[in-house]
Amino acid sequence: MDKFRWGIIGPGRIARKFATDLQVVPEAELYAIASRSGGQAFANKFDVPVVYDQYQALVADSAVDAVYIATPNILHADNIRLSLEAGKPVLVEKPFTVNAQEAAPLFELARQKGVFLMEAFWTRYLPVYQTVRTWLDSGAVGEVVVIHGNFCFAGKQDEQDRWLNPDLAGGTLLDIGIYPIAVYQWILQQNPVKVQASATIGETGVDTTFSVQMQYPGGAMAQFFTSFEINSKGDMSIYGTNGAIHINHGFHGATMATLAANGKETSINEGFRSGGFEYQIEEAVDCIRKGLIESPRMSHADSLANMQLMDAIRAQIGLKYPFEQRPG
Ligand SMILES: NC(=O)c1ccc[n+]([C@@H]2O[C@H](COP(=O)([O-])OP(=O)(O)OC[C@H]3O[C@@H](n4cnc5c(N)ncnc54)[C@H](OP(=O)(O)O)[C@@H]3O)[C@@H](O)[C@H]2O)c1
Repeated sequence: MDKFRWGIIGPGRIARKFATDLQVVPEAELYAIASRSGGQAFANKFDVPVVYDQYQALVADSAVDAVYIATPNILHADNIRLSLEAGKPVLVEKPFTVNAQEAAPLFELARQKGVFLMEAFWTRYLPVYQTVRTWLDSGAVGEVVVIHGNFCFAGKQDEQDRWLNPDLAGGTLLDIGIYPIAVYQWILQQNPVKVQASATIGETGVDTTFSVQMQYPGGAMAQFFTSFEINSKGDMSIYGTNGAIHINHGFHGATMATLAANGKETSINEGFRSGGFEYQIEEAVDCIRKGLIESPRMSHADSLANMQLMDAIRAQIGLKYPFEQRPG
């Protein structure tokens, strides 16, 4: 079978990780990149044969089998639309879009066109999470009652960069809050019915520290905080009626987890073949080759529910981006 050829729109920082991890996926290769600002250094580093200076040209290339979109949040919707209209399968970085209003028509477009579309939520495909799933499904911790987590890193000061820039849909909720939201959804297989959020809005007008308490239809409670003002190890704990699961030291990219139940602890350490994106890349290639339009492991419904939840949370903390306030 021919190698599966990826094209990248927006070869910035995270695209380097994608390109690095793609190297351990034998059935696929990086064929093209599209960059407004050159991209030649990226192409040289990763041996990319084709470089476009227009995103339109990349999606029009018949040799591209799928597009990985790694532009700032604000551009995801336009870049997805461009790719789907050209019939190109899409793997788009998180968050899927900026809000549900942008997201909903794109899922519809993917259905109409019969073209694959998936949010690049890499955490769900990591080996550790496959074991955590078996722990949850076997009832090892009993019924989940509370989930607690955090994801923080300090030092973001450049107001133009995407983290703090409201014009690029910055802030902790959309950047890192999406991780606990999408992992909790995966753990409980539900979306919350009650949400109580609060945030510190920084000088640029986006949330720099954020905290939320959520309740799910089955009764489970979940909390998390995110921040650009402090450092944390990024821990998550799932507490059930019979025990607990701890996914610590960066739960979003975890290689380790511990099950504590019946008076004993079982720890696992499951490293990656590369940086961890290889598993979501394999999932996308597999789904596309099977002719699917979504991944059953990160469905359109999941991504849409998460965008709706983040809309509801942003309404509570009073965070509207400048482009959302314009009339029409
Ligand atoms: N999954 C993860 O672990 C993870 C981690 C970090 C980030 N992300 C996501 O990946 C996306 C990109 O993040 P990043 O840190 O890689 O961003 P970045 O380094 O700023 O790269 C973004 C790329 O988008 C292109 N771009 C087009 N219009 C732009 C504009 N107006 N301003 C800035 N860049 C523009 C640029 O490429 P050209 O100039 O070459 O066209 C740039 O290289 C975000 O949505 C973020 O949430 C995911």
